[in-house]
Amino acid sequence: MPIPTLQAYRSTLTSAKADVLAYFVFEDSDIFKRQIREIKRQFKDLSTPLSATTFSGKEQETQVLYPGHSASRKLLLVGLGKTEKLSLEKLRRGASAAAKSARHLKAPVLAIFEPAPQAVMKARPHFEENIWENIATALGEGSVLAAYKFDKYLTSSNGSKKTTRLKSVSVITEDTQRLKDISLGIAYAQLVCEGTYLARDLENAPGNEIFPESLARRAAEAGKKSRFQVTILNERKIKQLGMGGLLGVSQGSAKPPRFIIMEHNRSVKRKGTIVLVGKGVTFDSGGISIKPAAGMAEMKMDMSGAAAVIGTMQVAARMKLPVHLVGLIPATENLLGGAALKPGDILTHHNGKTSEVDNTDAEGRLILADALSYASKYKPDLVIDLATLTGACVVALGHYATGMMGTDEDTMKRLRESGERTYERVWQLPMFEEYEKLVKSDVADVKNVGGRWAGAITAAMFLKKFIGEYKWVHLDIAGTAIMEEAQDYIPKGGSGVGVRLLIDLLRHWKKA
Ligand code: BES
Ligand code: ZN
Ligand code: ZN
Repeated sequence: MPIPTLQAYRSTLTSAKADVLAYFVFEDSDIFKRQIREIKRQFKDLSTPLSATTFSGKEQETQVLYPGHSASRKLLLVGLGKTEKLSLEKLRRGASAAAKSARHLKAPVLAIFEPAPQAVMKARPHFEENIWENIATALGEGSVLAAYKFDKYLTSSNGSKKTTRLKSVSVITEDTQRLKDISLGIAYAQLVCEGTYLARDLENAPGNEIFPESLARRAAEAGKKSRFQVTILNERKIKQLGMGGLLGVSQGSAKPPRFIIMEHNRSVKRKGTIVLVGKGVTFDSGGISIKPAAGMAEMKMDMSGAAAVIGTMQVAARMKLPVHLVGLIPATENLLGGAALKPGDILTHHNGKTSEVDNTDAEGRLILADALSYASKYKPDLVIDLATLTGACVVALGHYATGMMGTDEDTMKRLRESGERTYERVWQLPMFEEYEKLVKSDVADVKNVGGRWAGAITAAMFLKKFIGEYKWVHLDIAGTAIMEEAQDYIPKGGSGVGVRLLIDLLRHWKKA
């Protein structure tokens, strides 16, 4: 869907011009009293009486006021709670509440007034440097991400009407110095939100719109628009390269597989090379080891890893990030046509290693194996793969943390920090050597399932067999990419998780 534009400008509260002007109120009694007094002073003719009994500044609390004399038609008070608990995430949620109210009020133009500097200074210790820049990013992210809706297939004929679209969000400040920082933060938010919207659009698109060839086409379009290189390998080339996992999984489908290669800054290698690998199963029926019917439709989002990688490539290219970034996507459907992969089949992967297919529903690791092996060709400093890989990861961590495993503790620490900053949080699971025997096979180098327990970990143990001489981190986004219910600024469906996390890691990246 079209994304609202973000901007920043300097204005006073009463002269800010918007359909809805959001004003954050804090719960601390000294600040609260001052803020309410200030609003009553500036807006003398409020249609609704304002008192602590109707509004107290609690988190997520909102109240709409109709000022007579103001450039904005509606004034929206948004509670941010106590300053001692203020964080970037609270600001995202506050901005999200503002965007949602704007939607209910059918208001396309939203302005968000900067949080009171007095309150921000009180909360100063919770923030890193560039405080106003980060605050602006959080406000931009919260409002724009909350405004997302996958409605391209809704027509006016079925009664489920499209809601008013948010067209623009402005962050308003009274201070020229802060305006500079806020503008920077807003520009960053615009880019990462565009990447996240792209990822969400790809995830939410049905399987008859996004299949390997069309996914590749969408990657190529993004590359053309944002100036990164895209090469698409067809089935013949995939065969030549010996990618037996990707071929094996695709053989039950009428649609051919694709291997998508994206590259940013091909000639800038001095700051290091990072390869991102995204699982691109455009629909996962389970194959011959078929999944139950209930909830199977969600498996159109089994390409969320791929979506995150494409979104990240787009943002990295537009930001001109000074790293050599490569994105690899093995793309296929997992269906059960007459030629489908069967339990017991043995596949030979890109690096010559073999795997025994015990369950055709553990297909993600089979295609990632080829991509992880192929990644060696770039002599990368780091490889990160993202995959909706296991239901076991959702059992372990639910929807609030991505499962993280890997071979490099330092990168995992950095990812954890990026996760805290962006609130796309990750949580490490162990890769103790004892788990390795669970994926041993009698007839091949490795088996694609590890039995009943520790399913997220045994999947990673399988992948580890195929990595090259590089640092590697695996992110299992099965729980965080596919939302069963809306959550603050993440609507139900595809979350676009990974884009903000990876871009945060990359912008702080320094070659070791
Ligand atoms: N795509 C699924 C994992 C998944 C499940 C993602 C639920 C999102 C939500 C994956 O291909 C799969 O089916 N994994 C199996 C592995 C098992 C057969 C070892 C699983 O998790 O059940
Ligand atoms: Zn599966
Ligand atoms: Zn899958």
